[in-house]
Amino acid sequence: MHHFAYRRGASNRSVGYASVLHAEEVDLATLADKVGTPFYCYSTATLERHYAVFADAFADMPGTLVCYSVKANSNLGVLATLARQGSGMDIVSEGELRRAREVGVAPENIVFSGVGKTQAEMALALDAGIFAFNVESEPELHALSEVAAARGATARIAFRVNPDVDAKTHHKIATGKAENKFGVPFAEAQALYRLAHELPGIEASGVHMHIGSQITELDPFRNAFALLNELVRTLRAAGFAIDFVNLGGGLGVPYRSDQPAPPLPADYARLVHEAVGDLGVRLLFEPGRMIAGNAGILISRVLYVKRGASKTFTIVDAAMNDLMRPTLYEAYHEILPVAEPAPGTPVAITDVVGPVCETGDYLALARALPELHAGDLISVMTAGAYGAALASEYNSRPLAPEVLVNGSQYCVTRARPTYDDMLAVERLPDWL
Ligand code: LLP
Repeated sequence: MHHFAYRRGASNRSVGYASVLHAEEVDLATLADKVGTPFYCYSTATLERHYAVFADAFADMPGTLVCYSVKANSNLGVLATLARQGSGMDIVSEGELRRAREVGVAPENIVFSGVGKTQAEMALALDAGIFAFNVESEPELHALSEVAAARGATARIAFRVNPDVDAKTHHKIATGKAENKFGVPFAEAQALYRLAHELPGIEASGVHMHIGSQITELDPFRNAFALLNELVRTLRAAGFAIDFVNLGGGLGVPYRSDQPAPPLPADYARLVHEAVGDLGVRLLFEPGRMIAGNAGILISRVLYVKRGASKTFTIVDAAMNDLMRPTLYEAYHEILPVAEPAPGTPVAITDVVGPVCETGDYLALARALPELHAGDLISVMTAGAYGAALASEYNSRPLAPEVLVNGSQYCVTRARPTYDDMLAVERLPDWL
């Protein structure tokens, strides 16, 4: 469910077209003229809806804390929108901590994940007074204990436990198998809680699990949460007080309309109830994609249509540096023409590619699309999560701007850097 839809266009550009794709009430053809292409566009109503649907699914479990996973989309406009809804945040770096604080998220609603937190980051997060650290290794535990003890503070922690379950997702975003770098081995968890108990500056009162991203079935969660339940019982039997569990993120979103939709948050919530509802613990979640994915699109303009020897290439002005997911994860993103095609418009099979000098630079391969021409605008759908967040300036292309829409209003929440900006951060050595 999202708020991008064809509507009768308000602008002159839409004359001759049945309708134009809108973000809420904003005509995207008009917006493209103002902002220039390519650009990301986010919908406030969609962000709010997704946050509410997720949070409401746990309304009957008091104390539940939803910590939006900042890495999915860290645009300040997006973060501020979610913060205003009451969202907490899951961070993985000093940069993300600063972003969360910048939009006014209360420190007690922040959790800190990641396998490689530095001691400087730990100190900053402790001083800010975040709720908890997700600790991923014994050396990290020692480092955190050292930092906390030195400042007379106590770090509340949950060990991220690796349950060795198959999340049935793309191998690059599966995190809960024994061979993945994440978490501590399930079999070693109890010994680590014992160690944590002995170390100064540590209060190990939670358990964390996050088994992967874009998970489209409930079974992997069920398997993981059953192990988590077992572990909490074992820890309690051994005398450790566990009062919160963090179930991570990972719930998938629908990228294509011709495939079965992933479970709804309500189905997921039912499963959570069944799996850990009897523990009497506070629940934390770290959803990223589920909140931001369908709330964003990437708008791009067709530069050329090139008829190759065996294929047609639609060359657009967005590229792999703007949206890396297709080439990095073989991800499918639906593509819609911004001007709704008239009935009977011929459909052609085409690769939608960017200007970057790599064969891997594509947004879609062998895609059936209404015939496109130079100057047409396209919208790459479901690009709100891990889109702009993964973008780079590869090929010295400035980062695409980000625009947040709210009803009939819009704001360029991140401007396109100028070429002067791009060059200004570099310097030549004295010897050149
Ligand atoms: N918590 C932890 C500890 C995580 O590592 C992640 C994502 C999340 C929560 C949020 O997961 P989500 O609800 O968004 O699935 N760039 C990849 C996805 C990487 C996910 C990284 N960790 C992609 O574009 O598919």
